[in-house]
Amino acid sequence: MAEARKKMTLPGLFKMVAEGKPITWLTCYDYPTAYLQEQAGIDMILVGDSLGMTMLGYDSTLPVTMDDMIRHSAAVRRGAPNVWLVGDMPYMSYQPSVETAIRNAGRFMAEAGCDSIKLEGGAEMADRIAGIVRSGIPAMGHLGLTPQSASALGGFRLQGKGAAQAKKILDDAKALEQAGAFCILLELVPDRLCKLITERSQGCIIMSLGSGPHAHGQLLIYHDAFALYPRFKPRMAKVFADAGAVIREGLNAYVKEVTEKTFPAQENYFGMPDEEYDELLKML
Ligand code: KIV
Repeated sequence: MAEARKKMTLPGLFKMVAEGKPITWLTCYDYPTAYLQEQAGIDMILVGDSLGMTMLGYDSTLPVTMDDMIRHSAAVRRGAPNVWLVGDMPYMSYQPSVETAIRNAGRFMAEAGCDSIKLEGGAEMADRIAGIVRSGIPAMGHLGLTPQSASALGGFRLQGKGAAQAKKILDDAKALEQAGAFCILLELVPDRLCKLITERSQGCIIMSLGSGPHAHGQLLIYHDAFALYPRFKPRMAKVFADAGAVIREGLNAYVKEVTEKTFPAQENYFGMPDEEYDELLKML
């Protein structure tokens, strides 16, 4: 049995920032992977609505429901009881109103055991962040490439390359910080913009996904980092181990051994004493 870890807390995350220790963050959607991530020493887990693509096979995150998110978040929590767990608010679970946002954020905490929530958007979502934080729930923002708005952003592409758009992202980060966000994820913005936002943050943790090395920590999508998503691999993602290849190799071996009748071998099944078997035959 692997060792139990100390529970990660908000002061624990801020201490890492103060000590200049980068925060490690991955997405995760299921119990066994959560167990492995906790044992590996991952600091934070995001149960992302990217599960719409990685786990459910949709083309986008938009069809993902609150019930999908709660079910997967609760499974992850069971596998990783000590990691700082962020539940990702799905499409239309916070956009309609502050009250909707608070109610759904509360579900992540009460029903799935999350430590915090994340939602997408800048100044226009500051009142949602403020309302959730006022309710006692740590909330984080998400700027740059925000997949729920991919259509409005012109697709899955770098955001903030031009000065005007970069300034808007800087202003949005400030608005979220002032609303009480404890953390902001910058997805796919230029490294220099990420550096500026990190240097200017006053007590807000800045995390990078494809936005360079200058943030307080890094996030990757688990399926990209371990070659488990068959449709594409984004340029920013590094493959740390090709789990897809290992699983494919194992599947081919399974098919071969069952087909050739070399599986199961004697150690893979159980016998029965002769006298019991004879007794059984007599009963037939
Ligand atoms: O859903 C998700 O995994 C995310 C990442 C793309 C940051 O929000």
